[in-house]
Amino acid sequence: MKIKKAIIPAAGLGTRVLPASKACPKEMLPIVDKPAIQYIVEEAVKAGITDVLIITNRGKGIIEDHFDHSFELETMLKARGKTEALAQVEPLAHLANIYFIRQKETRGLGDAVLRAKEFVGDEPFAVLYGDDVIIGEIPAIGELCEAYERYGKSVVGIKEVSDEYIVKYSSMKTEHIDGQFYSITDMIEKPSLETKFSNFSILGRCVLEPEIFNILSEIPLGAGGELQLTDAMAVIARTKGITGVDFSGTRYDMGNKFGILKANIEVGLTHPETKDELREYIKEIASKL
Ligand code: UTP
Repeated sequence: MKIKKAIIPAAGLGTRVLPASKACPKEMLPIVDKPAIQYIVEEAVKAGITDVLIITNRGKGIIEDHFDHSFELETMLKARGKTEALAQVEPLAHLANIYFIRQKETRGLGDAVLRAKEFVGDEPFAVLYGDDVIIGEIPAIGELCEAYERYGKSVVGIKEVSDEYIVKYSSMKTEHIDGQFYSITDMIEKPSLETKFSNFSILGRCVLEPEIFNILSEIPLGAGGELQLTDAMAVIARTKGITGVDFSGTRYDMGNKFGILKANIEVGLTHPETKDELREYIKEIASKL
């Protein structure tokens, strides 16, 4: 079955990037010239997704404004003949059918996903974490959707991370199938180095079936006193198994200060308007380090 619906949880507190995220959601922090969440919606659209539900909370109204017409700005750009600038903003209101819902209390990623139950109905759906930007030739979520069609099981996007990060993310019990595909039979959120299964962690992308909602309604709160999506997916991994896809793009963690810097440097080195100047600038400052 083709995946047509995606949800983007973007209702976290963003404490790791304060004070930048105090009044501006971390999902709206820019990578060169586009907010993180625009890269994520564009990735979903490239993979054939038509309907996107963004889960927001108080103070995140600017995400809605970003994907709407800005009548005043567009009229002014048209009147001044600024066609290039207009071409950057006008299509944003038509990227996909974008819907919004609020998570009233920040009770964790699992709780944010639970807000999407009515939107999802009885179809499989994609989840793209609002602060994980993945840049690559092939949309990462498209690779996961293909794996869903191929293996008929829920899918998570995985990458190997260092011990420093595995304790902050999740750890997968994996067996290699072939190429970029793995079979996952268990997982744990925020493990210790003693309880980790491997250094493979979920990095911001999943394809799930609606059964996840019943599991999320039944499981207890997990790490950090939050309802953890990983805990619900672990139930599926242990019973039916989950497919892991070591996706081909590069992932940037926009919920972390260093991740934001890396994203801006690497994308800046490929962006036509900044790449030459940035390359020279990096060489110049590197020679003084
Ligand atoms: P994180 O764990 O990175 O979000 O969740 P956070 O709570 O904002 O992080 P810190 O630790 O305070 O810095 C991953 C994704 O899930 C969303 C976040 O917005 C982020 O895109 N999320 C998290 C929700 O939508 N609701 C929640 O209750 C928690």
